[in-house]
Amino acid sequence: MSVRLAPSILSCDFTRLGEELATLAAADQPDNYVHVDVMDGHFVPNISFGLPILAAARRVSTQFMDVHLMITQPERYLADFAAAGADGLSVHAESTPHLHRAVQQIHDLGKRAGVVINPGTPLEALRPMLADVDLVLIMSVNPGFGGQQFIPATVERVRTVRGWLSDIDSPAELQVDGGVTPNNARALVDAGASVLVAGSSVFGPDGPAAGLARLRGALA
Ligand code: DX5
Ligand code: ZN
Repeated sequence: MSVRLAPSILSCDFTRLGEELATLAAADQPDNYVHVDVMDGHFVPNISFGLPILAAARRVSTQFMDVHLMITQPERYLADFAAAGADGLSVHAESTPHLHRAVQQIHDLGKRAGVVINPGTPLEALRPMLADVDLVLIMSVNPGFGGQQFIPATVERVRTVRGWLSDIDSPAELQVDGGVTPNNARALVDAGASVLVAGSSVFGPDGPAAGLARLRGALA
């Protein structure tokens, strides 16, 4: 199975967003995602960025914009993020009581739909969604900040969800986000992950091309 990497621009140098995106596009695999972390200071304790940054990224990159919405009641903003250039929109199971409706809205907008689950939420919350989504995102930290410590129990959660997806022959991507480094990447892929998000381990002092190469090297 070919694994995509999804560098999170939350950790990039925003004064050089265009250059950072050009480097990402030229590095590693062309079908990698660009992971866009939107935080509202309500669903999570931090505020990151929103529509104008996504729109700017869209203007200079043709890569898949994988938008992770860490916002309360994401239904309110799905159309805006689609219009700003999202290719995929992922909503948290904990962020809305109307998860199927949100997924349906994303599909009606012509975008790929993802569902996300926090480390403390029982996996069963995902199960009713599996046949209807294009991506499942298992958080390996509590969302809100880059640079946090990976929660090791994530590996078994990935294995469980991979089994459930296989049981229904789902082609959905299985993504992991938070604290992903060359030290845990291999175990996550062996457990069934197909997309690895990485922020601080990609945008290190030697730049994102070197960071992506290190992660890819760990998967070889
Ligand atoms: C966490 C975000 C992540 C974050 C990952 O709330 O959803 O995407 O940017 O950053 P690292 O890889 O540094 O944990
Ligand atoms: Zn994220």
